[in-house]
Amino acid sequence: MSRNYFIAGNWKMHKTRAEAAALAKELVAALKDGRHKYLVAPSFTALETVAAVVKGSNILLGAQNCAAEEEGAHTGEVSVLQLKDLGVQSVILGHSERRHLYKEDDGLVNRKVRLALKHGFDVILCVGELLEEREAGKAEAVCRRQTVEGLKGVSAADLQRVTIAYEPVWAIGTGKTATPEDADAIHAYIRKVIAEAFCPAAAENIVIQYGGSVKPDNAAALMAKENIDGALVGGASLKADAFVPIAKF
Ligand code: PGA
Repeated sequence: MSRNYFIAGNWKMHKTRAEAAALAKELVAALKDGRHKYLVAPSFTALETVAAVVKGSNILLGAQNCAAEEEGAHTGEVSVLQLKDLGVQSVILGHSERRHLYKEDDGLVNRKVRLALKHGFDVILCVGELLEEREAGKAEAVCRRQTVEGLKGVSAADLQRVTIAYEPVWAIGTGKTATPEDADAIHAYIRKVIAEAFCPAAAENIVIQYGGSVKPDNAAALMAKENIDGALVGGASLKADAFVPIAKF
């Protein structure tokens, strides 16, 4: 497999600047000999602080969201221009908390994806079904729609800067992990969707992370699956002693 493992930590709405800096310092030291690709995504308020800590390390800096416009009258939003100014390299978009708590639809997520790519960022596009959608047999259809709509208008060249994170909503923060087999099946399906929407080579190369209650004791079994190329980690990314073993699985 030519794809590199990519382990990302989504710190969500946690940590003051001092706490974020302390965790980032621990990770820089612990992962300097790590063999995979790494990213941390602190809150907007801690980005500048963490940028200074991870500079020159093998840990990339991500934001958890961005606005769909470059600038203007958008109270409470943060622009790609402002993120670039802070040294952010990557943006997580379409996270289930954005989709379900803040009602972001596929069209809005797609505008953000295209704007972030236009400004040179890497993108982690999150997709995943709700429990009721899984129980109704709609998991594949939901992931197809979120993938196709989220990537509408993205060129094959820009797709090389996109990672997909499959995060079944029922597994996020619940302690319920999809089995490696179930996750791998959806990853394979998403790869098929990418092959149809772009081309087989793009599907072969795209990195697809799994997210949803990834922990030190289940990471290796998930990563062993053919189509699982990394993890987007929430709760277990908040402490070095949980994130480092996942990052070094
Ligand atoms: P979790 O969150 O690891 O706490 O389940 C994953 C995510 O939301 O990215």
